Amino acid sequence: MKFFVDSADVDAIAELNDIGIVDGVTTNPSLILKSGRDITEVTREICEMVDGPVSAEVVALEADAMIAEGRKLAAIAENICIKLPMTLDGLKACKALTGEGYKTNVTLCFSANQALLAAKAGATYISPFIGRLDDLNIDGMELIGDIRTIYDNYDFDTQILAASIRSANHMKEAALIGADVATAPPGVIKAMAGHVLTDKGLEAFLKDWEKTGQKIL
Ligand code: E4P
Repeated sequence: MKFFVDSADVDAIAELNDIGIVDGVTTNPSLILKSGRDITEVTREICEMVDGPVSAEVVALEADAMIAEGRKLAAIAENICIKLPMTLDGLKACKALTGEGYKTNVTLCFSANQALLAAKAGATYISPFIGRLDDLNIDGMELIGDIRTIYDNYDFDTQILAASIRSANHMKEAALIGADVATAPPGVIKAMAGHVLTDKGLEAFLKDWEKTGQKIL
């Protein structure tokens, strides 16, 4: 499973990117707001840092305007992936931009039928929002499973990008169910590394090592 960082915080992305586990980045208008930065500037900086697709989202609602915004965003860097909302206009823009050779990410997906339509429109990625479904007591992970089945039934190339991830457990479940990619906030990715037994074990090993009086370096 590929890991995307769901953030427009350059320092937080850099910290994970330096470890070597980042395959891409996703942003959205709310994350740009949170960054306090200009969309073009911050997106360019992220694109220069990360070796992988960086999703930048259009804000127009009508297909022609989405296409124009998408082309403008794509001009920021070669690794831009144009993020489009899951609407009929978004699908139309997706089909056109994919036809022009751009990478596309259809976002705000909450049903298997929406994912089926995005695949028909040639989307590079479909972003089902797990956390926002869970917030409504609807099993977001079940949606990922349904999309996996549908895409595999017809060999669609569209990749499932599990989004709106809220916990390390979501990451494990997305991987088990066969999501191609998961995008998560930096804190969630970092939390995946933690385990109380790792901490306890390390503490005990270091205590014993001290008693040996030896040094490796
Ligand atoms: C995905 O591309 C979105 O930016 C993101 O995952 C939304 O997450 P949220 O529901 O936590 O805002």
